[in-house]
Amino acid sequence: MNAATKTSAANQSGTHRRVVSDRAASGTPGIQLSGVSKTYRSRDGDVPSLRPLDFHINAGEFFVVVGPSGCGKSTLLKMISGLLPPSTGEIFVEGEKVDKPHGNVGIVFQNSLLLPWRNVLNNVMLPIEMKRLSREEYLPRAKALLKLVGLEGFERKLPWQLSGGMQQRASICRALVHDPKIILMDEPFGALDAMTRERMNVELMRIQRETGKTVLLITHSIPEAVFLADRVLVMTERPGSIAAIYDVPLPRPRSLDAMADPVFTELVQRIRKHFFTQSTLD
Ligand SMILES: Nc1ncnc2c1ncn2[C@@H]1O[C@H](COP(=O)(O)OP(=O)(O)OP(=O)(O)O)[C@@H](O)[C@H]1O
Ligand SMILES: [Mg+2]
Repeated sequence: MNAATKTSAANQSGTHRRVVSDRAASGTPGIQLSGVSKTYRSRDGDVPSLRPLDFHINAGEFFVVVGPSGCGKSTLLKMISGLLPPSTGEIFVEGEKVDKPHGNVGIVFQNSLLLPWRNVLNNVMLPIEMKRLSREEYLPRAKALLKLVGLEGFERKLPWQLSGGMQQRASICRALVHDPKIILMDEPFGALDAMTRERMNVELMRIQRETGKTVLLITHSIPEAVFLADRVLVMTERPGSIAAIYDVPLPRPRSLDAMADPVFTELVQRIRKHFFTQSTLD
């Protein structure tokens, strides 16, 4: 019997997941896309980036997207956040139609996008200011998050005084500081060294598990996708479409030992087969 179960794009509910199934049963909507496509219009002509996509992310689910460079992953994330309008289709987050940037998400962009004139702590506190929440109330949370990601003592530094990986860790704190229900992460660990990356993976899983947040994470790394995910969505080349969605039947909590599990290695192999002509994925 196959260790991993491939599910069709149209039938992704009813998985075995813990928080997921509990929350799905309680009727929490999560993220829903129907017929969502994107074609960028430019003076040089149209760039079809995403074919119409239909899928659902359960509330409390850890959902990971892998796909070749340029297949539309960042485009997908920007549309879900409300920063970019789809060309066709509709997106619902927590049951509400997305037609503008909305506050209930924390976003980690592909580049850390810290404001260069603000120190690390004030970059992390940005969502608190934008949402006009109490600085006093959230300051301890910001500091605790920075400590969690190993940036204690760097609060007063400016972004250029940090390495790329440190900047990315600060931007992860910024995405979490206002305690959003949904976290959208675009290759958040790409700039990290292998050891820090593994530590951050474990930490992110712990946060997600303890808080029941819905996470949509994009990565180029197939092993990282399988290690983190409840389900992995595999995309085709541009214009991106859904090649497959896989359940990851590894028990939780997961430690790094999970990567030695035959279920893990088999699923990594299966997903890799989608890209055997590609060199962009590791
Ligand atoms: N603002 C834009 N205008 C025109 N075309 C764009 C724009 N943004 C992205 N594209 C095109 O849309 C396609 C998808 O881009 P996107 O950034 O979503 O890819 P991606 O899957 O995130 O790639 P990567 O893995 O390299 O980050 C690409 O072919 C890109 O050239
Ligand atoms: Mg991208």
